[in-house]
Amino acid sequence: MNEEVEVLLNWYDKNKREFPWRKDKDPYHVWISEIMLQQTRIEAVIEYYKRFLKEIPSIQKLSIIEEDKLLKLWEGLGYYSRARNLKKAAKKIMEEYHGVFPEEYEDIIKLPGIGEYTAGAISSICFQKKEVCIDGNVMRVYVRLNNSNMDVQDKKEKKKVAREIKRILPKETGDFNQALMELGETICIPNGMPKCSICPLERFCEAHKKGKESSIPEKKGKKEKKEEEYTIFLIQYKNLFAIRKRDSGLLKNMWEFPNKKGILKTQEIKKIFSTQEVEKGIKNIHIFTHKKWKMNSFLIKVSKKNEEYTWVTLNDLEKGYALPTAFKPFFKYLKEKYPQ
Ligand code: ADE
Ligand code: SF4
Repeated sequence: MNEEVEVLLNWYDKNKREFPWRKDKDPYHVWISEIMLQQTRIEAVIEYYKRFLKEIPSIQKLSIIEEDKLLKLWEGLGYYSRARNLKKAAKKIMEEYHGVFPEEYEDIIKLPGIGEYTAGAISSICFQKKEVCIDGNVMRVYVRLNNSNMDVQDKKEKKKVAREIKRILPKETGDFNQALMELGETICIPNGMPKCSICPLERFCEAHKKGKESSIPEKKGKKEKKEEEYTIFLIQYKNLFAIRKRDSGLLKNMWEFPNKKGILKTQEIKKIFSTQEVEKGIKNIHIFTHKKWKMNSFLIKVSKKNEEYTWVTLNDLEKGYALPTAFKPFFKYLKEKYPQ
């Protein structure tokens, strides 16, 4: 084994963090955690993970979970298609593999929602297959170690790095892959100064030797996100509020407050809802991967329930309906205005 690899494995052995999905190498546990880890910070994942596993402890249960319940468990994580793909994949595992998670990379990667990264993670961590998993952390560590100016976003470069890393993979593939990611998350951190003085790979690192570690990888100008404007209707009838299920597009099947594209004025809203009781609410900006929503809300009191909507109390909304993060500030605003 080459020396760097050995040093990295020893470092990981002594320093690895304890996570609930690291207690065993159950592929179901690793799978759920890896999908969640693609959505948010590792500390935030822990609570989501525990709640998810408590409600859905097995692949069999996941394969028959009600969609509303699944989305509620995923609420706040974003990218709800990932949650739906979990269920689809679970169904496939039940039907094609008798409920046993497949071991081979080629089978794993055919499951819905599983790409190269996740297939590499599961097959190496759970089954010690000779597969790599390359995420943003690994790319950053790699270019720094080699003082390389490659574009870490480029798919071709990523393939090249995968080939290079595959060549040095030790038999402890799962630990090695996780060690690289962990080093990137805790020591060789993005933005600002990596903690080279406590890095186990300091003496092997070309960027550090040349004092280049904080300017690698090079920052590329970010693409502008597409902006959309929405007017959000917080419609109140007595102690009930109107919500509806999104039937298409981004966030499909999640619940939302009724809304309309564009910026409406108070006068227009009074006309639409045939009421004089309209007041301005809060604004919110929500940033998705490729989009930015500028949201402007109005509080609207009506004297008749439009049956097009679902009418709920704020407590029911909180307990039983998955509301995307983009709409959460409006819910909080109502909750503060109308404590129950
Ligand atoms: N980040 C995402 N998955 C990880 C893992 N399995 N170990 C360390 N960091 C990770
Ligand atoms: Fe990253 Fe510094 Fe370690 Fe090099 S020495 S791998 S730049 S933390």
